[in-house]
Amino acid sequence: MCWIFAYQWGRRDAHKILVHGLERLEYRGYDSAGLLVWDAKWNFKLVRAVGKVSHLADKVKKEISDDQNFSIWIAHTRWATHGGITEKNTHPHHDQNRHFYLVHNGIIENYHKLKQDLIAKWYIFYGQTDSEVVANLLEDNWTGNFMETVEKVLGMIRWAYALLIVSTYAPNEIIAVKIWSPLLFAYNGKDEYFFSSDKQALSGYADKLIYLDDGDIVHLKWNEYEIKSNGIPTQKKIEDMDIQTLESSKGEYKHFMLKEIFEQANIIRRIFKWRVDFNKNFLNAEAFHGMQDEQFKKIVFVWCGTSYNAWCMWTYRMENLAGIDASCEISSEYEYKNIKVSDDTLYVFISQSGETADSIEVLKLIKEKWGHTFGIVNVVGSTISRLTDYGLFTRCGAEIWVASTKAFTAQITCILLLALYLWKKRGLGKAKYDKVMIELSKVPVMIEDILADTVNIRKIAESISEYKNFFFLGRQYQLPIARESSLKLKEITYLHSESYPSWELKHWPLALIDTSIPSVLFVPNDLMFEKNISSIQEIKAREGRVITISDKEIHNADANIQVPSTIDEIYPFLTAIVGQLLAYHVADILEKDIDKPRNLAKSVTVK
Ligand code: AGP
Ligand code: GLU
Repeated sequence: MCWIFAYQWGRRDAHKILVHGLERLEYRGYDSAGLLVWDAKWNFKLVRAVGKVSHLADKVKKEISDDQNFSIWIAHTRWATHGGITEKNTHPHHDQNRHFYLVHNGIIENYHKLKQDLIAKWYIFYGQTDSEVVANLLEDNWTGNFMETVEKVLGMIRWAYALLIVSTYAPNEIIAVKIWSPLLFAYNGKDEYFFSSDKQALSGYADKLIYLDDGDIVHLKWNEYEIKSNGIPTQKKIEDMDIQTLESSKGEYKHFMLKEIFEQANIIRRIFKWRVDFNKNFLNAEAFHGMQDEQFKKIVFVWCGTSYNAWCMWTYRMENLAGIDASCEISSEYEYKNIKVSDDTLYVFISQSGETADSIEVLKLIKEKWGHTFGIVNVVGSTISRLTDYGLFTRCGAEIWVASTKAFTAQITCILLLALYLWKKRGLGKAKYDKVMIELSKVPVMIEDILADTVNIRKIAESISEYKNFFFLGRQYQLPIARESSLKLKEITYLHSESYPSWELKHWPLALIDTSIPSVLFVPNDLMFEKNISSIQEIKAREGRVITISDKEIHNADANIQVPSTIDEIYPFLTAIVGQLLAYHVADILEKDIDKPRNLAKSVTVK
């Protein structure tokens, strides 16, 4: 779901820059990669490989010599949506006469009908992708003018897409278009121009960048470019490139995921530094600009995946702490409800990447209806951070590997701070507020305590790694943690796991309990403790194996992972870390590709 393009006049080894750019985008998840280079004599070289970028790099080494100069290069990592994971379906794609070459990020929704029409005109297709249809459409509609042809074809295809198109009819030119899928345009003082779906790939190459908006088309010719917005020539804001450098070393850790898990105590300290003064029990109001309006009676959270679990936490915190009605919606479903936007509702979007297509779609719908929007995003400059009216950055540094860990912790930290802010502003119980602040200040140290000794977690992971199915159970603040821990396990081990509120067991999940399914219960000494103990009894009565995560000794559990004692609102920070470690160790024991789980992308930029 991501790609990079670089353009220059042969002063550097183009293919090396491309491969390097793709390597930097590897964390986003993909299944194949390809590139096209074009030399000064208009010779094309197309290299594609299924699997890792390193496979492509090996082929490139064999097929492209270092002394060849190329003026145009396009490259792509594919996350298959239409057609199998094969070399033929790997981008770049071309039309049957090889006049147009392109890379495409996204989906052409009406590709089937367009393909049938082209086949009726005797067009021949070598693969199954929707992207190849666009290449043939360009050929079929060639007007004699590159830009005119592209604009004509854009009128025929239905988004979502970011496309980079080159043509033998117009050597040394490139046209880039964006509708829904992310794309930015960047350059440096050495007349080198780049397009990329993620600015991470451009670190060290470009120093200026232009964020493209939906409907933008860039026509790049040699050293000049023109940008049109919905058909009208436009000047876009040029920004300085400011990027968090990608951390490319695992250091002492076996996997990047483990490294990111261990970073979490310091990330929370960093968030505190920006936003809280524990000595004065004070929250920096500026950080919550946009939340200050008294008119909001309701908050709706709209998210996907791990971020969804984080905002589930929001609803408890908002309703319990700040006394505001809160609800959460899965963005891909919410979009199809008849959303009635009202002036007293705040729509909050939480996203690590800020590029999740499903969430962006809902955000746009809400904005069309003049709704108030707030973003909690990690990547500065991302689409969601630019489109929301207000927001705050989670600032946990670049989270590179597919399984989200530190972004989740940063999200729930910001969420709690926001709930506390609203709580104080609304003049609700001071004693409780002070208590939460005191316990919150101890979170980094308590996390370090858990991370200091993970031997027991590893031992328990070993004892459960033989199972094929799991239950993750919790209640109230621990329910989102049970969901998130279950998601982590599924994502990196490919084992089946379900998560439920523990009290729900008797409504049906008990039907599945027997010796073959272990249940992981999040049972700290909180409001739900006694009820959770009864749930454990229900499982034990049916010979189910029970692993608990608690600060108390749990007499009826088969094994317990100890966490420090704190208060209800703070336990999730601790139990979340244990859930991540448990999933990690099971995956490690099973020798899974933890940092790059199969079929997954870091940021889902297609709908
Ligand atoms: C989490 O481990 C996943 N990789 C995934 O669920 C992710 O959280 C989801 O796709 C949302 O991404 P976002 O936070 O970047 O919007
Ligand atoms: N729909 C295209 C394909 O399946 C592009 C997918 C992507 O965004 O990587 O090849």
